[in-house]
Amino acid sequence: MGDAGGGLAVIPTAPERIRNRDSAFPYRADSYFHYLTGFPEPEAVLVLITGAHPQSILFCRDKDIDKEIWDGFRHGPAGACAAFGFDTAHSIKEFDAKLAELLADQPALWFSLGHDNAWDTRIASALNAVRAQTRAGKRAPTVVRDTHATLDEMRLFKDDHEIALMRKAATIAGAAHRRAMRYATPGKFEYEIEAEFLHEFRRQGSQSPAYSPIGAGGANACVLHYVDNNRELINGDLLLIDAGCEFDGYASDITRTFPVNGRFSGPQADIYDLVLDAQTAAIAAIKPGATFLAPHTAAVRVLAQGMIDMKLLEGSVDSVIETETYKRFYMHRTGHWLGLDVHDAGEYRAGEKWRTLVPGMALTVEPGCYIRPGDDVREVFWNIGVRIEDDVLVTAEGCDILTIDTPKKISDIEALMAR
Ligand code: GLY
Ligand code: MN
Ligand code: MN
Repeated sequence: MGDAGGGLAVIPTAPERIRNRDSAFPYRADSYFHYLTGFPEPEAVLVLITGAHPQSILFCRDKDIDKEIWDGFRHGPAGACAAFGFDTAHSIKEFDAKLAELLADQPALWFSLGHDNAWDTRIASALNAVRAQTRAGKRAPTVVRDTHATLDEMRLFKDDHEIALMRKAATIAGAAHRRAMRYATPGKFEYEIEAEFLHEFRRQGSQSPAYSPIGAGGANACVLHYVDNNRELINGDLLLIDAGCEFDGYASDITRTFPVNGRFSGPQADIYDLVLDAQTAAIAAIKPGATFLAPHTAAVRVLAQGMIDMKLLEGSVDSVIETETYKRFYMHRTGHWLGLDVHDAGEYRAGEKWRTLVPGMALTVEPGCYIRPGDDVREVFWNIGVRIEDDVLVTAEGCDILTIDTPKKISDIEALMAR
């Protein structure tokens, strides 16, 4: 907020959302609010004031013994101050009136517009309440700035506390993938394997999956966002599992692909090792000073060469890349920022250029190859879909693979499944 000469920022948490009638979805705080406060209750708003007298002010639910009997503990304003270190806290019921008071004479209002109509209206009302007092000598902010733009940049660089949580989320998800590999056999249903990795997430204290998990057997692996997870696994299928968990707000995001009968066939192994080689090249390209695009470029080169070698494509590597014919079998990008959100906050470009990697950034590395049946495709490759996804932290030396415990060499996967 400093670059605008200070001001007042309003950061609301997420509302509780009704699933049906009087049942709510499991509650999760807004990521920005969680990042700044760690305060877990709904109906809360953080107000930050900069300038000569900086202040953090929380608005939250009052203590209410009757409600606490039904729905559990509430900190209440005084308890929230003591437990979370806010300078002041008030009842959420006082928010609108207090906001109008606090906004008077602030040079700028910081709020991320456009996410929630009710909030946009509420903020506009507070601004108008100050404007209505100009004859009483009050000045309303003349500038509205987007809090998310500033917070996105902060969230891109993980501190030690965040890294520890991300390691934990990665470790739990790794154990869940190993459990799934041990459990999978022909004749089981995709949801039975899903139940295994969800069990491991929860058993180890993860609060939730970080996104809708994918458990895709056989041809389903070629549907990038397959989440039905309801088909029987057939002898000879590969199973692609893309599943990560959330631990204290932070996500992991892992994909592994393995044969349900425990042994890769020749063509499956060919495609698998190609994707693994692409991933190895992509990870080697991650270091400070490289661009965000470098791992993708490295992965695409390896994949393009392999697609030519396996006669999936014709031409030279350069022409396959230039004409983007590789996209028929590899149509997504090789990674994304990772943090509180699975597709985390942060710009990917700095002006015209892809941004440069810096220690503390966390990203995924997830090349794949997805081969749908086609007259011009050798039948041995039909319906093979492979993705291998790890989570990495950029370090001074290069990168640290947070998900290193999750087997991905064919020999390691087959050995684990044989046990
Ligand atoms: N699971 C979402 C992703 O890999 O980006
Ligand atoms: Mn994923
Ligand atoms: Mn991902």
